[in-house]
Amino acid sequence: MIRQLSLLHHLLVASLLFPGVVCGQVAPLIANVSARQITSLDGQWQVIVDPYNVGSIDYRAQPLKNNGAFYKNYKPQSPSELVEYDFDASGRLDVPGDWNTQRGSLLFYEGSVWYKRSFDFAKSPKERVFVHFGAANYKAYVYLNGEEIGRHEGGFTPFDFEITNQIQTKGNFLVVRVDNARKSDQVPTSNTDWWNYGGITRPVTLITLPESFIQDYSIQLQKGSRQQITGWVQLNGSQLQQNVSLRILEAGIDKTFQTDSRGRAEFSFNADLQLWSPETPKLYKVEIASLTDKVTDRVGFRSIEVHGTDILLNGKPVFLRGISMHEEAPTRPGRAWSEDDARTLLGWAKELGCNFVRLAHYPYSEAMLRMADEMGILVWEEVPVYWTIEWENQQTLRNAETQLKEMIERDHNRAALIIYSVANETPISDARNRFLRQLIDDAHSADPTRLVSAALQPSGATQAGRVTMQINDPVGEAVDVLGTNEYIGWYNGRPEDTDKTDWTSKFSKPLIMSEFGGDALFGYHGDVQTRWSEEYQESLYEHQLAMLKRISFLRGMSPWVLKDFRSPRRTLPRFEDFFNRKGLVSERGERKKAFFVLQTFYQALHGAPLSQ
Ligand code: GCU
Repeated sequence: MIRQLSLLHHLLVASLLFPGVVCGQVAPLIANVSARQITSLDGQWQVIVDPYNVGSIDYRAQPLKNNGAFYKNYKPQSPSELVEYDFDASGRLDVPGDWNTQRGSLLFYEGSVWYKRSFDFAKSPKERVFVHFGAANYKAYVYLNGEEIGRHEGGFTPFDFEITNQIQTKGNFLVVRVDNARKSDQVPTSNTDWWNYGGITRPVTLITLPESFIQDYSIQLQKGSRQQITGWVQLNGSQLQQNVSLRILEAGIDKTFQTDSRGRAEFSFNADLQLWSPETPKLYKVEIASLTDKVTDRVGFRSIEVHGTDILLNGKPVFLRGISMHEEAPTRPGRAWSEDDARTLLGWAKELGCNFVRLAHYPYSEAMLRMADEMGILVWEEVPVYWTIEWENQQTLRNAETQLKEMIERDHNRAALIIYSVANETPISDARNRFLRQLIDDAHSADPTRLVSAALQPSGATQAGRVTMQINDPVGEAVDVLGTNEYIGWYNGRPEDTDKTDWTSKFSKPLIMSEFGGDALFGYHGDVQTRWSEEYQESLYEHQLAMLKRISFLRGMSPWVLKDFRSPRRTLPRFEDFFNRKGLVSERGERKKAFFVLQTFYQALHGAPLSQ
């Protein structure tokens, strides 16, 4: 049964993440926002770029509380009054959207940007109103009508605040300071191989709800079952004890449950369902209703388990034909966020012959998960515990735990989502092992119906001219599925070295080769020895795939990477120019030669086990 965070836990985390700050209405996450009565605040927002945070601190670095604070949106009351900011004269940026690709001057910008959005809003007295953010990278400080309503840390998960008592009929001004400054104690830490896109990167929505509403629900198959539906409904408000109905008419399900004094109803019952799979991504219309509220969703039912070294989808062994990606828009610079972006990126994965994607290295938009449900693509989702996190830092751990829980809270009803990954390429140490084990336990207890993994790194030994790569990372003990990244042929040796490389594992668990690959500049040609050429990348893939076929416990792969993506670590002129070029598709959508090597391999594999 998927567990839900208590309000107390939310407040606890908020106080740990923003010590000394009394947040406004920190609201438990409202599920399935797009199915509610909503008002979009997307569009052009007025912005002030504030590299020295003069909008929030004075020259003594003390917090500003007077009208000089930008969230006051204050205007001079007389020609002689000194006011040194003005949203109305300060330019605009699109929301949702990163700021880096909207203005040349902001491409490398890291720091604070203030956003302001004015709006009128008609609300009936009994209604409650929440403001919901799909995501804002990295820290968001949110103010309404000159008052602080809350803060959020973490650039890739949603958050909402209740504004029922603050919202006015006329002249509301919502101000958000977004700060994407990198710090070593954050998650991710200050060193990543992706662009630190800043801003309000996903939709902003006002949600109007009845006083007592359906805040969240979980409806999935019980672990290991293909008939037993199990789940819960959680109400929020004063009328917590109510009848709630659950209807899946197409499956002949029409049930009523009673919520308890905490507003919670738990249920479990048998059902005769057509199961969701990549071949048949069946989604059912699910209606949940209480006396005062109703929400409708599209939910698929499938079981996912591990049996020895097999991954079983609906009880049958499955091979995950995957690709890794970054959440960058397919045909324009910058962050992806929309349904169209998701449809195009997953469409490219399907064109490759994929039934699986690794959404690296952070939670993507809800639109991406819902599109995977629709298109029948299995998903690996990950929190940005990436490379060298501050393992001993308890606040960093709380931060990582919160991002993991927010990700699970948002996506726990998505059939496509099968694997939670708690980390990528993290150096083995006792502190790191403890940190990751805590996250693995958190994921298992929050959602026992899904698998947990991490992208680990192998150790290698050479003997008699053959290399044995061994998977023996101690965290391998705690995960359900092993993920491993290797770069034989790019960072390590030559592509043909794979021919004399064997793989062993300390754990009898399924392996997903979560990364392998090499860079190529689209259109640059040479022989297979010439780095950066399409021929080198093509040959690397041919050698890699031949090696992977020989790994008896391999049950999936997600080569690095679908599309060339921006990275501040990639400075080589002509070949990189701040792009990681390991994509099989260029940043303009052009397919490289290796794209077709993998496509041919997956098409041959489709429906057949990985033959030795
Ligand atoms: C790493 C890492 C990726 C990175 C890739 C690369 O494995 O996980 O984030 O982009 O290697 O070096 O290209």
